[in-house]
Amino acid sequence: MKAPDIKTTLPGPNAKAIIEKDAAFVSPSYTRDYPLVIARGDGAIVEDVDGNTFLDCAAGIAVNSTGVSHPEVVKAIADQAAKFIHMSGTDFYYEPQVRLAEDLASIVPIAGDVRTFFGNSGTEATEAALKLSRYYTKRPNVIAFLGSFHGRSLGSLALTSSKSVQRRGFGPLMPGVYHAPYPDVYRFQGSADACAEASLSFIRDQILVHLTAPDEVAAVVVEPIQGEGGYIVPPAAFLQGLRELTQQHGILLVLDEVQSGMGRTGKMFAAEHFGITGDVVNIAKGIASGLPLGVTCARKDVMSWPPGAHASTFGGNPVSCAAALVTIRLLRDQFVRNAADVGEHLANGFRALAGKHALIGDVRGRGLMLGVELVRDRATKERAVEERNAVVQAMFRRGVLILGAGRNAIRFAPPLVLTRSQADDVLRLFDEALSEVAA
Ligand SMILES: Cc1ncc(COP(=O)(O)O)c(C=O)c1O
Repeated sequence: MKAPDIKTTLPGPNAKAIIEKDAAFVSPSYTRDYPLVIARGDGAIVEDVDGNTFLDCAAGIAVNSTGVSHPEVVKAIADQAAKFIHMSGTDFYYEPQVRLAEDLASIVPIAGDVRTFFGNSGTEATEAALKLSRYYTKRPNVIAFLGSFHGRSLGSLALTSSKSVQRRGFGPLMPGVYHAPYPDVYRFQGSADACAEASLSFIRDQILVHLTAPDEVAAVVVEPIQGEGGYIVPPAAFLQGLRELTQQHGILLVLDEVQSGMGRTGKMFAAEHFGITGDVVNIAKGIASGLPLGVTCARKDVMSWPPGAHASTFGGNPVSCAAALVTIRLLRDQFVRNAADVGEHLANGFRALAGKHALIGDVRGRGLMLGVELVRDRATKERAVEERNAVVQAMFRRGVLILGAGRNAIRFAPPLVLTRSQADDVLRLFDEALSEVAA
């Protein structure tokens, strides 16, 4: 499949008809930035229902880790479905779930023995982590970070603080959640170390002094690289400091690797870039190449709740587990390395474009989790919100799928199979799109 190749006006006639029906029958709460109606795909290429092809730098929101439809994943799904589709791991046993838990124990950034709880999504992984943290510590409160995204169900939503529209009208939310600033070095006046210290001291000297005693805090929940909030990479000292602070007070450190995990950053988990481990690690999105699966991994001694304490009928569905087992193998054998290699190539390309386009304020990220923050003025760092939105549209018209992150950043989160030559096409078209918007 050649891509990008745009043959019709967008949306084409077939896409238009489907979008009209969607407006009549589907919840209007979804945010669709542009009218893409997928028909099929291959690797990092997506074809729409009118035969237009696109280069995919969104991956179904950082999910399609091995591509849109990797043949080995498809075969594993088909083979498992032919045997049995569901048996509920909450009441019965099946081997794919046990094998996956064993595989996860060998890769997650948790020191020592690990147990895994199986759900269906990122938000369910957060819910499980919250319940487990309260259960294990017998403490009620939780610390999270401004700009974070941990899900939209009523427990996780109390942590999520990415955009106010996600919370508006749904309160009151779960009490006992305190938010600290996430360290954004680009927007901090001072060094990376000072930026890390400002966030840590907000927890240490404000939250834990004025709002809640440390022995009332069950967990600190953090994204090792903040995703929806803008693809923000914190200083290593911040995560290392959090690790020390939580250990000092018997607070569990919950790493939300839902977006940053499963090879996306050029290592299996983002925490590896910072040399830290968590007590609990949440994974979803890329874990099963697109099948619904969300897992909460924890230190074995922490995951000690009794039968009946927590479960989900569909959680750890055998077909999803079969897809995850193959996904982990493909990531280990090829695609984590590819994410590191092609990610560096792409990041270097963005840095080169920053020499040409004043709109680019910051280029950041690891592997194929890359953010480009757009500003109106490099000195004042005024956020180029409309320009960012216009660049997303200009890229779509050119046949590249990207998404925004935070208020004025663009995220590039392609399938981890993206080739260097596809990355070059993305860079060429991004150059064009930036020129168009700047004009
Ligand atoms: C870091 C992080 N945690 C949790 C979630 C929630 O995942 P889900 O949409 O599968 O509930 C997301 C989704 O974007 C995420 O990025």
